[in-house]
Amino acid sequence: MRLLVTGGAGYVGSVVAAQLVEAGHEVTVLDDLSTGHADAVPDGARFVQGSISDASAALAGVDAVLHFAAKSLVGESVEKPGLYWANNLGGTLALLHAMREQGVRRIVFSSTAATYGEPERSPIQESDPTRPTNPYGASKLAVDTTLTAYAGLHGLGAVSLRYFNVAGAYGRFRERHTVETHLIPNVLKVATGERESVSVFGTDYPTPDGTCLRDYIHVSDLARAHLLALDTIIEGEHKIYNLGNGTGFSVQEVISVCREVTGHEIPAVVGPRRAGDPAVLVASSEKIQRELGWKPERTSLREIVSDAWEGLSGR
Ligand code: UFG
Repeated sequence: MRLLVTGGAGYVGSVVAAQLVEAGHEVTVLDDLSTGHADAVPDGARFVQGSISDASAALAGVDAVLHFAAKSLVGESVEKPGLYWANNLGGTLALLHAMREQGVRRIVFSSTAATYGEPERSPIQESDPTRPTNPYGASKLAVDTTLTAYAGLHGLGAVSLRYFNVAGAYGRFRERHTVETHLIPNVLKVATGERESVSVFGTDYPTPDGTCLRDYIHVSDLARAHLLALDTIIEGEHKIYNLGNGTGFSVQEVISVCREVTGHEIPAVVGPRRAGDPAVLVASSEKIQRELGWKPERTSLREIVSDAWEGLSGR
């Protein structure tokens, strides 16, 4: 297929673009490089530097879009909500408009666990209430809502994948954020000497060791789900799937595994809770397993951390 990957110079987008090229697809990456890196575009993909708000030319002759380009920092979204609504919802509306103009009727969308907000039960199912607690989650939920409407109104075929905590690396494709807020890369930065210690944001949560539990999914498993979603899109339908491992690991467990993998003592400093962090976020991925036959293969935290660490040493 001829595919447009928006945000394909970013972390998840670059891994998906690499797997699409490996599967024999003809891939164009559209990325404005505001947070992505040109050298993350995989060999064999065409690169167009530009905005999703101006995607018409890049969409010509395309069979489907995989849409990753977005602002994705929860904290930043609270400080600058307008940036999130403009980029994530406004940008996507412009992209959908251009897709209609160019007759492109299929899209796989990068959605998030942040659409659910504070969960009522664990693991979270797709039918659970969506009450985002920050503009990032709200803007992604607004896109999910739009996709449902466009499927009904315009016959768009769409799949939203709601990611939980993506981690690990796929060969040289890894997480490289200028502002790093995520746990695993921040812990590994202590092992590389870029940071002196890692902060543990709260040890008074109602969890076994008092630190938050998160569902870490290997980026390679996550990416594979996009290829399955692409093959199963039905025009006129919008499907939503969670993507996680189904197991929660605590902040302390993550730090312990990072110590084992790197052989570094990794000093940890206990600090206050970070605003807006739910105690437990774990996905039920039963629906995508049942409907698309997806199965995570790299489920051990050790494997996820080892791959992230190897990706880093390839810097
Ligand atoms: N944490 C620390 N120290 C750090 C960084 C994180 O203790 O230096 C803790 C956090 O408080 C949290 C856990 O580690 O308990 C995981 O934090 P991350 O920032 O790695 O990930 P989040 O769970 O906050 O965020 C993820 C995705 C977001 C998504 C969100 C849904 O990265 O895109 O889940 O709530 F929006």
